[in-house]
Amino acid sequence: MPTACSARIIWVTSAAAKEKLATLALPANGDKIRKAPVTAIIGMDLEFYENLPELFPHADAKSWFNTNAELAHATAFRNSSLQGAYFILAARALGLDSGPMSGFDNAAVDAAFFADQPSVKSNFISTLGYGDPATIFERSPRPGFERFNRIA
Ligand SMILES: Cc1cc2nc3c(=O)[nH]c(=O)nc-3n(C[C@H](O)[C@H](O)[C@H](O)COP(=O)(O)O)c2cc1C
Repeated sequence: MPTACSARIIWVTSAAAKEKLATLALPANGDKIRKAPVTAIIGMDLEFYENLPELFPHADAKSWFNTNAELAHATAFRNSSLQGAYFILAARALGLDSGPMSGFDNAAVDAAFFADQPSVKSNFISTLGYGDPATIFERSPRPGFERFNRIA
């Protein structure tokens, strides 16, 4: 259900916010955050269902989630991850580079950036800009189709 629109994004651009985020990430990731013009914190709203009467008016979809925290969490995580992946694709389509990262303290980032929105939790973060070819990794190996797929 992409219309769940569970992603909540903070675009970290100021020096102060970059520094705050960088200190909550693994040291190697902190340096990337400090150097990038923008780092997006892709969060997920566990109470995304409050918007469903507006965003998915075709059914009483709010009632599918507001009494089932486990289903709401799985849906918020799945949909915000997909939205984050679309963000990466959109950046690349525009010729930008993105640096997705999960190496940070989620609870600390939630406290630092989402304190005013307790239902929002961080999923992953991603730098955005133009990567320096001298410092970015070579393209990682891509396993062949047979390795991780099967046709049933
Ligand atoms: C969800 C996710 C989390 C990642 N976490 C980190 C991280 O914490 N630190 C890091 O240096 N790279 C991390 N990476 C990998 C880099 O972003 C990597 O450079 C990028 O995935 C390379 O692109 P490729 O896999 O298309 O070759 C992560 C990638 C993804 C998709």
